[in-house]
Amino acid sequence: MMDQAEQLRKLVKQNNGSARNIARVITVTSGKGGVGKSSISVNLGIELAKAGNRVIIMDADFGLANIEVMLGIRPQYNLADLMFHGKSIKDIITQGPENIGFISGGSGIHELTRLTREQIVNLTMKLVELDELTDIIIIDTGAGIADSVLEFVAASAEVLLVATPEPTSITDAYALLKTLNRKSEFSTDNTRIRMIANRVANSDDGKELYEKLNVVVSKFLNFELEYLGDIPQDEKVSHAIIRQKPIVLSAPNSGAGKALRDLAAKLNGTYEPMANGKKGIAQLFTNLIKTTCKSKQKG
Ligand SMILES: Nc1ncnc2c1ncn2[C@@H]1O[C@H](COP(=O)(O)OP(=O)(O)O)[C@@H](O)[C@H]1O
Ligand SMILES: [Mg+2]
Repeated sequence: MMDQAEQLRKLVKQNNGSARNIARVITVTSGKGGVGKSSISVNLGIELAKAGNRVIIMDADFGLANIEVMLGIRPQYNLADLMFHGKSIKDIITQGPENIGFISGGSGIHELTRLTREQIVNLTMKLVELDELTDIIIIDTGAGIADSVLEFVAASAEVLLVATPEPTSITDAYALLKTLNRKSEFSTDNTRIRMIANRVANSDDGKELYEKLNVVVSKFLNFELEYLGDIPQDEKVSHAIIRQKPIVLSAPNSGAGKALRDLAAKLNGTYEPMANGKKGIAQLFTNLIKTTCKSKQKG
């Protein structure tokens, strides 16, 4: 396995070295489900696309197909088809509103550990091509402390952690960060985590929620969480989901619509690529495969 990892590192490095485009990857996660990850991923994606970025949303929350429902699109192929059935990157991208692309993870993420060496090299080359085609990739993960989610988070350079004022949302967010902090692959030098407070009554409550979480994180986990901002509780969010028309398009001037536009503008204005190796989607998957293979060998 080690020389396979070595081989992959080389492959990605070669491609990184030649002044190719490398996508900015933003991973959206939460401790608890149902806090707004998918809705936030879709709306931030659309706003970032409006600002002139080529955006892809990748659904890594296999099992649930809620982004498809939110966008009212039905992809024909998914990541597993890319890995096992000879499909190309372009085959698995479905166009959504404002020209955003959508990639469904399908069972692909589950199956990363059972790839042969040849399949890994093949997948990596296709992901290098995806880096080329894209400016920003937003990965919508499942909730919770499932290993697959934590590995995505640890392998990402930028993470958005979504929490709501519900008490369980905050304790679950803390549990996620605590488990993440124990992973050897995780370090705040390489992964920037910013919290979004969703469904808050007002901005002060959002800030307070962030401070509550950051106090325990800095005290017990010894790192600082950053704050991206808040999104108010707004019934238009649910209406937008039911009508399959994202809120930044259907009600851009609603409370949540405006907040999402502000958050996207902040994200668009604050990209500082990490100096280390966590760059792009090919690199991210290389790291993921490395750690999943390692933990499989151990366990
Ligand atoms: N700001 C908000 N205001 C009101 N309802 C919201 C808001 N954000 C999310 N929701 C509701 O929460 C539900 C779950 O959102 P979703 O994005 O599917 O969460 P997740 O992906 O984290 O499971 C949505 O159906 C929506 O009705
Ligand atoms: Mg979701």
